[in-house]
Amino acid sequence: HPFSVGYFVGSLAKASINRQLAHALINLAPGELKFTEIKFDELPLYSYDYDADFPPVARKFKEAIADCDAILFVTPEYNRSIPGGLKNAIDWASRPYGQNSFSRKPSAVIGTSPGAIGTAVAQQHLRSLLSFCNSPQMNAPEAYIQFKPGLITPQGEVTDETTEAFLREYMKELHAFIVRVLTVLPREKR
Ligand code: FNR
Repeated sequence: HPFSVGYFVGSLAKASINRQLAHALINLAPGELKFTEIKFDELPLYSYDYDADFPPVARKFKEAIADCDAILFVTPEYNRSIPGGLKNAIDWASRPYGQNSFSRKPSAVIGTSPGAIGTAVAQQHLRSLLSFCNSPQMNAPEAYIQFKPGLITPQGEVTDETTEAFLREYMKELHAFIVRVLTVLPREKR
């Protein structure tokens, strides 16, 4: 039985290393997982003034999340948190009040940075947001990926064997996590 996973790339940069990581993860994932990117670069800056009448771009964005069984966040760390664009997207998704797109929607978090702690602080912030948004999160394995030049080829292949095995296992665990959550919370009850 296939599951649809919507993924957010936290970076808007053309040469994003987190986008490269997302491609690698998709290549390594079990065949039961089908991936769609959830884009947020065209969302205006959120304000609750929009709550009475969300613009079409925001409606489509929320529909894209609703269409997925689970969400995967692949995010950089900017100033020890998540990038502002991603926070803006999460604020849009969480509103209007009572229509929080993340409620009961399983999620997982991963990211890469050239720095040694590999986005750990940003991921902790993101986990706080997702907790508040009532998203059941994959708690383990955690994945803090230090990016070294050449780690991922332009084709999305991981050049380091240990990292490749680790990421493959991460995606296997993500699949198992989604199966567990959806067994307790079938789609129609979410
Ligand atoms: C960074 N970078 C960074 N790295 C880190 O490990 N912790 C941090 O807090 C920050 N802060 C930060 C702020 C801003 C505004 C920028 C632009 C960068 C470095 C960052 O990890 C590096 O630029 C990565 O390439 C970002 O990932 P993407 O955007 O290429 O996917």
